[in-house]
Amino acid sequence: MIGDDLVIASELLKEGKNVAIPTETVYGLAGNATNEEAVLNIFKIKDRPFFDPLIIHVRDIHQARQYVEYFPEKAERLAELFWPGPLTLLLRKNNLIPDLVTSGSPLVAVRVPAHELTLRLLNLLDFPLAAPSANPFSYISPTQAQHVEIQLGNKVPYILDGGSSTIGLESTIVDCTEDKVKVLRLGGLKVEVIEEALGEKVFLALSSGSNPSAPGQLDKHYSPEAGFILTDDPEMEIALHKNKKTAYLGFGTDEVRNVEIVLNLSPSGDIDEAARNLFHYMRLLDGMNPDVIIARRLPESGLGKAVNDRLYRASQK
Ligand code: TXA
Ligand code: MG
Repeated sequence: MIGDDLVIASELLKEGKNVAIPTETVYGLAGNATNEEAVLNIFKIKDRPFFDPLIIHVRDIHQARQYVEYFPEKAERLAELFWPGPLTLLLRKNNLIPDLVTSGSPLVAVRVPAHELTLRLLNLLDFPLAAPSANPFSYISPTQAQHVEIQLGNKVPYILDGGSSTIGLESTIVDCTEDKVKVLRLGGLKVEVIEEALGEKVFLALSSGSNPSAPGQLDKHYSPEAGFILTDDPEMEIALHKNKKTAYLGFGTDEVRNVEIVLNLSPSGDIDEAARNLFHYMRLLDGMNPDVIIARRLPESGLGKAVNDRLYRASQK
């Protein structure tokens, strides 16, 4: 069931059930992070491997402190500046957080989502919510309640509808537990903004097949059913696939010919708008059952790098 009733959502969560929740980044599939059964069910519903740990969502930094050993100074600075917001901090967990949540890691990923409805929900609960993105493992992340309903509607008792996600890309994951600050996943908070806040360069420890620093950031991710090609030269790829049913995901003042289906992430070339539309448009195109989706690589400025990261992973088999 879809709705915006916080009483239903909070009661279900208190009973150890799972509820999909809106955030400014993407929708999450939530459960009581301190209840192993609720957490186990998240893995089951998503068909997610147990080596891929979950982010916990808290209402503010005070609640975060209850579940971690301590806050390193740099983590504190980032939390003060960017929470609520698309920033996830890795922190040393205490034993209130089950090992299942962190896949056995001593570090837990924590964030305060910037979504009014979900913050009100967190205020009705006396536990944090473990919540990965509410999509089946390795599929495109959901940015609307309807995305969750279509894929997981029969497995989740309630989907809290908070409208479309305003950022549309997952949070940026930052590890401040060692002297050198590491970014494990590019996301809604730009790396340049983090560097400016800390007054230092950060180290990009982005996961790839050979370097699984955030264990869930596999090369193959965000994968549509259709084939997916990321390119700087869409005209050429379209020509190469002219005998197939082709869909094109464009950006800016793009004019391509000879394609059946075309969507443009932002005709005016606004990268924030492109990020917001990305997952919805990928789903729309995939829903039209093309043989192949061809996507143009975005400029790397601002959120462009994070968008290109998602497009690249979508293109991996
Ligand atoms: O914006 C977001 O972060 C969304 C919303 C719902 O908050 N959540 C999200 O969760 O993207 P998920 O599970 O789809 O991605 C979480 C990523 C995974 O790649 C996982 O490997 C990494 O965070 N992660 C979680 N806990 C970790 C830990 N203890 N150490 C290293 N990586 C961790
Ligand atoms: Mg995910």
